[in-house]
Parts: sequence; C-alpha cells; structure tokens
Amino acid sequence: MDAGLEKVVAAETVLSDVQGANGRLIIRGRDVEDLARDFSFEQTASLLWGGFFDGMPADLHPPLGVARVVAFARLAPDFKRIAALPETEALRAALSLMPDGDDLQTAIDLAATMAVATGAIARLKSGGAPLEPDATAPHDADLLRMIRGDAPTEVEARALGAYLVTVCDHGLNASTFVARCVASTRAGLGSAVIAGLSALKGPLHGGAPGPVLDMLDGIGSIGNAEHWIRDALDRGERLMGFGHRVYRTLDPRAGVLKSVVTGLPACHGRLALAQAIEGRILQRLAAEKPDRKLDTNAEYYTAILLEALGAPRGLFTCLFACGRVTGWIAHAREQLATGRLVRPAATYVGPLPAIAA
Ligand code: CMC
Repeated sequence: MDAGLEKVVAAETVLSDVQGANGRLIIRGRDVEDLARDFSFEQTASLLWGGFFDGMPADLHPPLGVARVVAFARLAPDFKRIAALPETEALRAALSLMPDGDDLQTAIDLAATMAVATGAIARLKSGGAPLEPDATAPHDADLLRMIRGDAPTEVEARALGAYLVTVCDHGLNASTFVARCVASTRAGLGSAVIAGLSALKGPLHGGAPGPVLDMLDGIGSIGNAEHWIRDALDRGERLMGFGHRVYRTLDPRAGVLKSVVTGLPACHGRLALAQAIEGRILQRLAAEKPDRKLDTNAEYYTAILLEALGAPRGLFTCLFACGRVTGWIAHAREQLATGRLVRPAATYVGPLPAIAA
C-alpha cells in the first residue's frame, strides 16, 4: 500500500515529463523554459491538444476569442450570484453552468469560460462591473484587462502569458490525476475540469501562492525572517512555496517565473525581499530536514509575479486553473483514448461481520 501513490505508474502520457532528480520539465518535447519564452497561450493549447481532437484549426486564437464572448453572454445573468462565493468556488460554479461534452468546442469553451469567469469574479469582488471580452485580443492580454479593468502593457500581457504556459501541464499531479479518473468514466470534459479545479484548490497543490504572500507579509522584513521561520517550523507548519513531491532540486518553473518577474518594473521591492527570505528559508530547511532536499517550488515566484501584475491574491488559484485547463483537457482526452475506466483497489482493514452462532 502506497498512500501517496508516488511509486505507482498509472498512465502513459505523451504530454509532459517531470524529472525530479535534475529539475527538468518537458512538455510535448520542449523544455518548459523554451515553451514559456516562445509560445503563446493559444499555441500551447494547440500543442497540448494536437492529435486528441478532430478538426483542430491551424490557429486557436479566433475560436477562443469568439468563445470568450459567448461565455460572457452565458454567464452574465448569474455573475453576481457566482461572485458571492469565494473565488475558486465561484469559478467552479461558473464552469458548472456549461453544457458538458467531449469535443473540441467544449474544450475551447472551457478555456474561454475559465478566463471570462476569472475576470468577472475579480471585478465584482473589487466592486466593479465585469468587462466584456475582446474577441480580437490575445487570450493573456484580454484576461489581464478583464481582471484589472485597464489595458495591460505588452510586457505585462506577455508575462501573464508566460505564466499560463509555464503551468499548463505537469505530469500526473493530483488535479490531473482526478481529471483523468473522471474522464475515464466518460462523464465529459467539463466534469473532468471541475474535478481538476477542486483538487487544485488545496494549499498543498495550487492553493499555495496566496499563502506565500501572507507568509511574506507576516515576516515583513529580513531582520524578522530567522525568528519567524523558526517559530513556524517549531509549530509544525509548512512553508508555502517550498518542497515538492517529485523535485529534489529547484522546480524549473520557479526559475522561469523568477526571470519573468525580474523583467517587470512594478515589483522590485517585493522581489528583493522575497529573494532574501527565500535564501533564509532554504538555509533553515536544509538544517531542519537534512535527509529531505526541499527547494523553491513554482508557487513562490507565482505569488510575486501575479501580485506584480495587479491580480488580487484571492484570484491566484483561478489564474493557475486558467493555465492548467489546457493540460487537464489533454490528459482527459488521452485517458479517454485508452478506453479504460480507472478503478484501483483498496485493502479492507475494517471489521468482519460477526459469524452467526
Ligand atoms: N515546509 C516545511 N517542511 C516541509 C515542507 C515545507 N514546505 N515540505 C515538506 N516538508 C517536510 C515535511 O514536514 C516532512 O517532514 P518529516 O519527514 O519530518 O515529517 C518532509 O519534509 C517530507 O515531506 P512530505 O510530506 O513527504 O512531502 P510531500 O511530497 O508529501 O510534500 C508538498 C510535497 C508540496 C505537499 C510539500 O512540500 C508542502 O506541503 N509544501 C508547501 C505547500 C506548497 O508549496 N505547495 C505547492 C506545491 S508546488 C505546486 C504544484 O505543483 O502543485
């Protein structure tokens, strides 16, 4: 029995390879560093979905733009009710309003709905009105505009795009695994994506970046770091943005996101403090857990990047989902193609019925 399933191989995939020992992430034959630099969100969706759908267009930009407009019209009557929920639950509710299906249009609608709902939730939570999508804009720029209400610069839009691409897929992580389980029952792509989002929300997975900022705020200054970190570890707390089930070295996505954030003008104070605190945390973790190599994971620099782009911290998991939706869909289709229901076994350790005398 392996409670965390870490030694269980449950799928063959052409989508991504997480190499824990050497800190390398390959996504459909490309290193994540190259993908984040060279690919837009739309190109990444095409790359991941290629071969899994009939009738893939050469360019996903036009249908995705149209789908954002359609999603806005579909969600508009329910925006206020949805946005009364906490952000990630609001996103899940918005996705539930979509008809389910297994085809390419469902996949495009899911990616579009994710972005439109994320933008509307951000606006309503800050007291504004949701902004209509611009079907002609790139997905990343439109998403950032719908969140903030002002047009992002090209550098900002590209930074969000690099983030969405960096987190698009990551092997058989918890949310991808549940998405594959749901897809294997033939429940539909929408159901698989909602299941993935539900798993992503937890702080051990995609819910960490908001708490990373809470931690940095709690530490406050480098002078307070030693004492704050020691107290947190003494209380048995986990330091958000550090450690990983697979990586035994730096998460390569952390390196990508750190270099993206370095190119943004708005965050130098926060970045400098975050780098200094990162150093202290790594020293402390090495001293406290000498047998377990704990390094910085993607969520640490996700938090700095998304904050610098003006996204509220309650929205960070929704933005993670806006990127990861492409990977969940590809994995769901890959699982479906196997034709095999996922159904592992459990060892029963409960009582046996009494034997009648
Ligand atoms: N802070 C302090 N101690 C830690 C941390 C941490 N961030 N991560 C692991 N440890 C300790 C843990 O307490 C355990 O110690 P001991 O053996 O003395 O009980 C040891 O290291 C091994 O931990 P584990 O529970 O076997 O590790 P895991 O593979 O189950 O955990 C993890 C992976 C990501 C859940 C964990 O490192 C963690 O909780 N990190 C903080 C939350 C976080 O940053 N989450 C985002 C993950 S990256 C995004 C993604 O890809 O989903």
